[in-house]
Amino acid sequence: MPLVDPREVLPRAAAAGYAVPALNFHSLDMVPALLEVAEAERSPVILQASKGTIDFLGFEAIAAVVQAAARRCRVPVVLHLDHASEYGLILGALRHGFTSVMADGSSLPFEENVSLTAKVVQAAHAAGVAVEGELGYVPRAAEPGAEAGSGAPEVYDFTRPEQAEEFVARTGVDSLAVAVGTVHGLYRETPRLDLERLAAIRARVPVPLVLHGGSGVPAEMLQAAIARGVAKVNFATELKHAWTGGLRAALAGEETDPRKVLQPALRALQVEAAAKMRLCGSRGRV
Ligand code: 13P
Repeated sequence: MPLVDPREVLPRAAAAGYAVPALNFHSLDMVPALLEVAEAERSPVILQASKGTIDFLGFEAIAAVVQAAARRCRVPVVLHLDHASEYGLILGALRHGFTSVMADGSSLPFEENVSLTAKVVQAAHAAGVAVEGELGYVPRAAEPGAEAGSGAPEVYDFTRPEQAEEFVARTGVDSLAVAVGTVHGLYRETPRLDLERLAAIRARVPVPLVLHGGSGVPAEMLQAAIARGVAKVNFATELKHAWTGGLRAALAGEETDPRKVLQPALRALQVEAAAKMRLCGSRGRV
């Protein structure tokens, strides 16, 4: 089917108590492999590309491959631009048929985040595209002081519920990414999510919530977050590691045909992606 709007799939997930997995892809071979899993698991799915992936592959190739693969699919597929803070990049996604964009003003002061996000919402909604905003700051695990759940004040900026309410009302975003203890990348310690904060945000914010930094969050913690209104969970690092690990093993052999060398990488990616769908409770929802 054609690409779908997240405003169709996320509220449905929030209402039914599951989350739609948002899977970052980094090369084009990953796209049909991920959609094959979504079909097999009967799960809605969000495929997302970061600026790095856009720089690597280009908008045209990404849009063409994802649209063609989604058309062959019987499950809803969203194409999302992940972590964009440049307005020009967002316009590029709108021009190339992405059905969702993230306006990431999370490292800006509050008022500037509101301005950037509201400006993106205006352009995106005019094009019929949904917008995810972020309030609070989810750091990368590699940043000093970013140990999961440590709340190191210099890098970790937890989302404040009353500010989240104001942010959503003033910007008109369709979903909100929140900082409640996760980080991007692998955890050095078991993360502790601030579930009370999440519930307080949920009570004030009418749109579906988004959790970044899904890799490595223990199942029960992730499910507790989903039960408190998280309807989209982002996964990148573990998928990347699965693909690379499979490729590394294949390269140890004598095979030189790229199509064959890639098979173990894609299979490992698929096993990881299927696990994420089950973790999110999105399996069997289509
Ligand atoms: P992980 O790499 O920690 O899974 O985070 C992914 C993410 O949040 C992408 O926006």
